[in-house]
Amino acid sequence: MCERGSDTPTAMRLRRLILRIAVGAAERANTPENVNLAWMKRLIIAIDGPSGAGKGTVARTLASSLGYRHIDTGAMYRAVGWKARYEGVPLDDEGAVTEVARHAELMVEGGVVSIDGHDVTRQIRTPEIDVVATSVARLPQVRAVLVERQRAIGRDGGVVMEGRDIGTVVFPNADVKVYLDASAEERARRRANDTAHTGGRVGQAAVAEAIQARDTADSTRAVSPLTLAADAVHIDTTGVPVAEVVERVLALARAKLSPA
Ligand code: DC
Repeated sequence: MCERGSDTPTAMRLRRLILRIAVGAAERANTPENVNLAWMKRLIIAIDGPSGAGKGTVARTLASSLGYRHIDTGAMYRAVGWKARYEGVPLDDEGAVTEVARHAELMVEGGVVSIDGHDVTRQIRTPEIDVVATSVARLPQVRAVLVERQRAIGRDGGVVMEGRDIGTVVFPNADVKVYLDASAEERARRRANDTAHTGGRVGQAAVAEAIQARDTADSTRAVSPLTLAADAVHIDTTGVPVAEVVERVLALARAKLSPA
């Protein structure tokens, strides 16, 4: 065995090289960004609320500011409803619709929604699929399957998940819970102006009526109805610019990320 004092030149060079690598790694680990990353937890941010409350825009902007994933769970119910329709599955056949939900290859990220290889990004934003999704979302077994999938997606954090039951059922221990709302008129106006959704063909009065019907169905169904979680922060977005709403939620997130 070689004593320290009797290292060969090669062993000494090797030792110096190892030391340089170790010091470099320590220095890199101590950069301000990495020190921040070390204590920054990847949060689960739950955004719930009725249609037209601004969940989509707020959740998307928030996720991109934080470098998180944005998961639109409403799109999952819509896509399953679309696929059931496409396959001629009766929407009141809970077992059959549940099978569609269980086996579907679903993707609802990055502004693209696809199910079993069909890009349904546009097809699921129609008044017809509004109704189909609401009726699929009433089925307890379908909810059970989709809630499991949502938990699997969000489990490790770094996610902004929007829907109706995220803070109450999917992630009751979410780090940040927000319930977005807006006046009925404002919600109807937003939806009527959302050409990606209605194709611009439906007037505000008809949209208001349809939204009201869906909200009633979503809030009164037996399983996981839309309700305000006791520990959610309620934000009325009526007349409030998106940037301001996002800033309020970011402040809640920052408070969770600050070292105690
Ligand atoms: O958010 P959205 O309009 O795309 O949702 C479509 C339907 O799915 C709507 O009726 C509400 C319902 N939904 C739900 O019950 N639970 C969720 N987590 C998300 C949406």
